[in-house]
Amino acid sequence: MIVGIIGSGGREHAICCSLNKSKKISKIYCFPGNAGTSEIAENIDINSDDFEKIKNFTLEKNIDLIVVGPEKPLVDGITDYLESFGVKVFGPNKIASQLEGSKIFTKNICKKYDIPTANFGIFNSEIEAKKFLVKSKYPIVIKADNLAAGKGVYICDNQNQSIQAVQEIFEGKFGKAKNVLIEEFLTGEEMSFFIISDGFSTQSFGTAQDHKRALEGDKGKNTGGMGAYSPSRLITDELEKKILDKIINPTLKALKNLKTNYKGFLYAGLMINNNEPYLIEYNVRMGDPECQTLLPKLKTDFYEILNACCENRLDKIKIEWTKQKSLCVVLCSKGYPENFEKNVEIKNLNKLKLSSNDYLFHAGTSKTKDNIFATGGRVLNFVSLSDNFFQSRDNILSHLKDLNWLGGFFRKDIGFKVIEK
Ligand code: AMP
Ligand code: GLY
Repeated sequence: MIVGIIGSGGREHAICCSLNKSKKISKIYCFPGNAGTSEIAENIDINSDDFEKIKNFTLEKNIDLIVVGPEKPLVDGITDYLESFGVKVFGPNKIASQLEGSKIFTKNICKKYDIPTANFGIFNSEIEAKKFLVKSKYPIVIKADNLAAGKGVYICDNQNQSIQAVQEIFEGKFGKAKNVLIEEFLTGEEMSFFIISDGFSTQSFGTAQDHKRALEGDKGKNTGGMGAYSPSRLITDELEKKILDKIINPTLKALKNLKTNYKGFLYAGLMINNNEPYLIEYNVRMGDPECQTLLPKLKTDFYEILNACCENRLDKIKIEWTKQKSLCVVLCSKGYPENFEKNVEIKNLNKLKLSSNDYLFHAGTSKTKDNIFATGGRVLNFVSLSDNFFQSRDNILSHLKDLNWLGGFFRKDIGFKVIEK
């Protein structure tokens, strides 16, 4: 089988490596991929937003399955577009992708189906929003409605901050804004919960916790994710049942009532408080770096799972995982998530001695004939599986020490809640 993967980050390299283990796969193309994917797949210089070029290439090369990594093409309708030309696609359609594309779409579903989430108000006028903020309790959360690449969420400690946030959103900082969402601030511990669905049946696809802040101690600016570990320390059978019954299943039912269904990974960002789950947000894809953290634990053939999903027979597949603890540390370019230097060479990569339980996934990298260069903010993902999180982190930190890349920085404290007592 020939597979195409859309995207160029660490998540897509991890997807590429997992698919590459399947005996059924003869060839993988990545649109456009990175230096890591180029080792096992063929990178095609077509961007993920160029649907027509992707379609033409897919038909010309008889690609059997397209797997979509990032949210943007999904929200823009790549699945519907490619399927209209007879291409098999793993990833939700445009309507279902509104779960990530519009926070207000999701909040309205929560309200209608009684899904536990932060109390909220939707304001289409800057004046009304500001009036509401004058009489609100703090902290409070202000969100832009549309996709904002992980930005567009303000946690405000006081009225001044919240008024400024509303102003920035209406001024178009995250694209044209008709509305803002104002939310109650939830307390508790966050957890990422994943499911896979073919539109008819659903299976859990693991849990993780990620560290979004740039600096140790969960301080500093928000990033795409500085590291993650799996499983989450919070998950129990009882909590999983609550998440499925109170959050996931009502959401899937809501989509059915909109005459559509959900095919792909669904990532629920949750706040857990007193063993009760609250939905913070949905993502219509795997997390990054959660995907890199989870996939090395998968024992079942990944291609079989994705293909079964596209053929509506996920219920026939038993998904199995190793019981090991997985941890991921992201190596970033110095300056990320603000400005950083591009095209900095990463030497010493070929000197690393990774064991069979260690994984290195590329994110923002590119390759010339013999050298690897950092081109993005998040550059490399180191993952290690072992019997405990401390050991996994220790393995990774020793590889990072060997790499000794002066252009980068990373957090040494990933997983501190499950490691340090
Ligand atoms: P989102 O893009 O909606 O996931 O928000 C990004 C981050 O902001 C989340 O991972 C949370 O850490 C935080 N956050 C968002 N909404 C809330 C809320 N209502 N209460 C507390 N924290 C929140
Ligand atoms: N790690 C957070 C995300 O993928 O959205």
